Amino acid sequence: MKRSPLTHGRIFDDEAFAERYAERHQNMVESFGHEYAEKLTSRGFDRGRIIDVGCGFGGMDIVLARQFADSEIVGIDLSDPLLRLANRSAQAAGLGDRVRFEKADVHQIPYEDGSFDAVINTNMVHLVDNPVQMLDEIERILVPDGCLFIADVRRSWIGLLDKTFKSALTLDEAKDLVDRSNIRGGSFSSSFLWWRFEA
Ligand SMILES: C[S@@+](CC[C@H](N)C(=O)[O-])C[C@H]1O[C@@H](n2cnc3c(N)ncnc32)[C@H](O)[C@@H]1O
Repeated sequence: MKRSPLTHGRIFDDEAFAERYAERHQNMVESFGHEYAEKLTSRGFDRGRIIDVGCGFGGMDIVLARQFADSEIVGIDLSDPLLRLANRSAQAAGLGDRVRFEKADVHQIPYEDGSFDAVINTNMVHLVDNPVQMLDEIERILVPDGCLFIADVRRSWIGLLDKTFKSALTLDEAKDLVDRSNIRGGSFSSSFLWWRFEA
C-alpha cells in the first residue's frame, strides 16, 4: 500500500494540523453522521452502544448522540489535539454524560468482545499501520447482529491532484483487505470519492 507522510496517522499529533483538519472536515463528518443516523434507524436501532474507531474530532458522534437520546457513544483515537476538540464539543453540546472520547489504538481496542451494537470507521483504512488488524478488532468488539459502517476515500485519477487520494485504496484493494480480515460478510459500494463496506 502506498503511504504518504502527510496522511499517516501521526501527523494528527500536530495541534495546528488537527485544528485545520477539524475545520475543513466539519461538514463532511456531519453529513456522514446524518447518513448513519438514517441507516441505523432504518435497521431498527434506537438505543445502544456505538463506537467510532478513529473518531478524530468526534463530529459524527455528536450528530449520532443527538439523534439517539438513549445511546452511549465512545470514540477512540490517538491524537491528543483531536480528542481535546472532541471532548470539548461533547461538553459544549451537553452530551458529556453519554459521549466520551478516549485515547486508544485502533489495533488494540480496549473493550471486551461484543461490547458494541454499532461500529463506525471513517477515513481510516488507508492510513493505519495494519488495516487487517484494525478490521479484526472491529469484528471482535461488535455484537453478532450489530451494524457496521466502514467508509474510506477511494483512489482514482483524482490522486494525481490531491495527496489524500494518492495514498488511498482502490475498491479492489479495499476488497482484498476485507477478504484477508475476519470481518463479517457485508456489501461494498463506491462513489467517485469513497468506497464503503457495510453490514
Ligand atoms: C483522516 S482522520 C479520520 C478521523 C475521523 N474518522 C473522520 O472521518 O474525520 C484519521 C484519524 O486516525 C487517527 N489514527 C491514526 N492511526 C491511529 C491508530 N493506530 N489508533 C487510533 N487512531 C489513529 C488519527 O489520529 C486521525 O484522527
